[in-house]
Amino acid sequence: MGRVPKSTILNRRKSRRETGPSEKAEPVRIDILRRKSTDDAPYWQSFLYTPESSSDTVAMALTGINSQENLRDVDGNPAEEIRWEKSCLQKKCGACAMVICGRPMLACDAFLSELKQPVRLEPLRKFPVVADLMVDRSVMFRNLKDMSAWLQQNAEPSEKKNLPAHEASRCIQCGCCLEVCPNFMPDSSFFGMAAMVPSARILTFSKTGKGEFQEEYRRHIYEGCGKSLACRNICPAGIDIEGLLVRSNAAAVWHRRAAKK
Ligand code: SF4
Ligand code: SF4
Ligand code: FES
Repeated sequence: MGRVPKSTILNRRKSRRETGPSEKAEPVRIDILRRKSTDDAPYWQSFLYTPESSSDTVAMALTGINSQENLRDVDGNPAEEIRWEKSCLQKKCGACAMVICGRPMLACDAFLSELKQPVRLEPLRKFPVVADLMVDRSVMFRNLKDMSAWLQQNAEPSEKKNLPAHEASRCIQCGCCLEVCPNFMPDSSFFGMAAMVPSARILTFSKTGKGEFQEEYRRHIYEGCGKSLACRNICPAGIDIEGLLVRSNAAAVWHRRAAKK
């Protein structure tokens, strides 16, 4: 969701405190784009979920719906358990990324009280769907491997110049930035922000093999990125994508060209 102003966060917390569990909650309708498996046709199915408090999230709704015995949809038809991925439930792992009301978000960080109803859930569209809201994001990790995006030696922590690397290390590889990128396609040579952000760490810390990595960066990030910055305010980790992009382009492309002259 990009950098959310502090005052907004405080207002969000305040409003959640003000509306507690004592209030009678209305059921929320959740529309889900479902698919039994990769090869099956998608279809919409709707469920009702009654929040226990105004801080209930989409992740809590999915867990609540799945915990029902003899699960039924909004029309009373028998339904199968909804498949989706989760792990930390604390915005730390990126597993629960999905499209929520048209925007890529983390289900564990999407509050029902702040969403337009009915709440529409779809899988991320840039990755193959495994089932329901579960996608195969392995292309992101293959891309990092292709670029050899890892440090070849120990990093030296705590220097001021390492701040961009610390910012970049907050990337949880959720794929939300790729969802909104007009230039990223899973099979293209452009690897998107999910590869640019970890690259910023390498460009900051690397002492050896820097030339090769700069070349990988130029080929897989600099040349394919249209600099539209559609991805700027979408990151659930609130990473300063624009700042890192400017620094990384300078470190990998402009400084290198200047050094060659
Ligand atoms: S700046 Fe535009 S083209 Fe580049 S990664 Fe972001 S959305 Fe994609
Ligand atoms: S940069 Fe942000 S949106 Fe993109 S993969 Fe990393 S955490 Fe997710
Ligand atoms: S479950 Fe880990 S980020 Fe949502």
